[in-house]
Amino acid sequence: MRRSVKYFPMFVDLVDRPCLVVGGGNAAAAKARRLVESGARVILISESPNEELCLLADRGALTMKRRAFKKIDIKGMSLVIGASGVLKVDSEVSKIARASGIPVNVVDKIPLSNFLVPAIVDRGPLQIGINSGGVAPSLSSKIRDQIETILPARIGSLAEFARDHRPTIKQLLPDISARRVFWRKFFDSALAQRVLAGIDSVTGKEITELVQEIVTDERTCGEVAIVGAGPGDPDLLTIRALQKLQAADVIVYDRLVAPAILDRARRDAKRIFVGKASGRHICAQDEINQILLEEARRGHHVVRLKGGDPFIFGRGGEERSFLLSHGITVEVVPGITAALGCGAVTGIPMTHRDVAQAVTFITGHGEEEVDLDWRSLASIQHTLVIYMGVSSAGTIAARLIANGMNSGTPVAVIENGTTPNQKLVKGQLGDLAALIKSNEIVAPALIVIGQVVEQSNLQMIVAGPEAYLKNNSGVHQDNIPLSLKVSGGGR
Ligand SMILES: C[S@@+](CC[C@H](N)C(=O)[O-])C[C@H]1O[C@@H](n2cnc3c(N)ncnc32)[C@H](O)[C@@H]1O
Repeated sequence: MRRSVKYFPMFVDLVDRPCLVVGGGNAAAAKARRLVESGARVILISESPNEELCLLADRGALTMKRRAFKKIDIKGMSLVIGASGVLKVDSEVSKIARASGIPVNVVDKIPLSNFLVPAIVDRGPLQIGINSGGVAPSLSSKIRDQIETILPARIGSLAEFARDHRPTIKQLLPDISARRVFWRKFFDSALAQRVLAGIDSVTGKEITELVQEIVTDERTCGEVAIVGAGPGDPDLLTIRALQKLQAADVIVYDRLVAPAILDRARRDAKRIFVGKASGRHICAQDEINQILLEEARRGHHVVRLKGGDPFIFGRGGEERSFLLSHGITVEVVPGITAALGCGAVTGIPMTHRDVAQAVTFITGHGEEEVDLDWRSLASIQHTLVIYMGVSSAGTIAARLIANGMNSGTPVAVIENGTTPNQKLVKGQLGDLAALIKSNEIVAPALIVIGQVVEQSNLQMIVAGPEAYLKNNSGVHQDNIPLSLKVSGGGR
């Protein structure tokens, strides 16, 4: 067995340095491209270069020599890549480079290489290299993909920002440890969030103020992100939501946020539950607002995590206004609302050509909200989605029918949509209350009313993936929602 090598990680300046690539296929092109991007002077040796390499040569990005490799090619090189894929050629390249003391890498041949090229996450000046010592390159690529997902897209701009302001900060804070504190604080600050969001430019005055806070040891005020957690399946979180969860000091969450979603948050974040749970006190909205305000004033990054989308029956608007009125920076991160999640997993489109040209989301909660323009809601070619409507379903159905909607209009009720416990039942508007009662539907559940329900070829899902598969043995696998294809107890 080959001894495992602990490689020394480093990033090398190859600007204007001569680098040799031997080979004409995709592997050679990938390495040549990377070298060109690093500013190297690339010389490529191949008798039959592929199209990408020819294009690079035509653009003047590299020097192409259309012939076989010769020993003399190695002379004066700073770095050599063997990528011909022909063992005899690559071994020769490796042998001569090593004998000349020039670093050499042969693609996929660790014994012929004395350096490895890592998988790279490249965001402008910020580069992250991942290396498995050559033993599991696919694992390195997988980790690279995971890092790509969690890193903000504009993290490179933040690095550029730091580069541009380094001289000023050095002048303002001559002491190196004060500068370190400043940068750590800056990257956690609302100013940095603005650079990342690319929505605003940060002024010199704001930088000076932040420096001043550090000098006088005042805490920077924190900020609140009101984040949509989606309908339940943690894979339906947005990338921005995930980034916020992983940067949070404090997470204020309610009942609709599943533990599997909280598992994606930073481990040491403080968690504050403000929802309803059996036998427990429910936080009033004023109390929630106060918690958010106090945590932000303590300088924390607060995530207010809400089921679905914060601006759809989520009181996100009220919380945002309250915090803004107290001078707290607020960002809203949208989430997939329950209607869209439930529609996707049951195959019910919200609109559908020739069947529904409009969709309305209404809440069935509370007497006031139920007092709506029923005549227009009852109009045809229209989908109605009712949130929080389990207990008022009978009243809602009666009002729609009284205002002209056909009692035979198809309805679907989806409980816990997108989770392993999801339940779907279908029927007709006239029987809506009975349908809910006989199937023991409980919150959180969504009611969809309209012809679009017929587009779903699922008749019923009762509790969990296994039962689902049993009840739908006639359904083709492709029609089974992705999250339910796994049998044996959920995700
Ligand atoms: C307070 S509202 C919050 C809605 C949320 N902001 C959204 O955009 O989905 C709660 C209601 O959303 C619906 N809901 C939320 N998650 C659901 C799910 N996974 N399945 C079915 N309905 C859901 C239910 O009607 C529930 O009573």
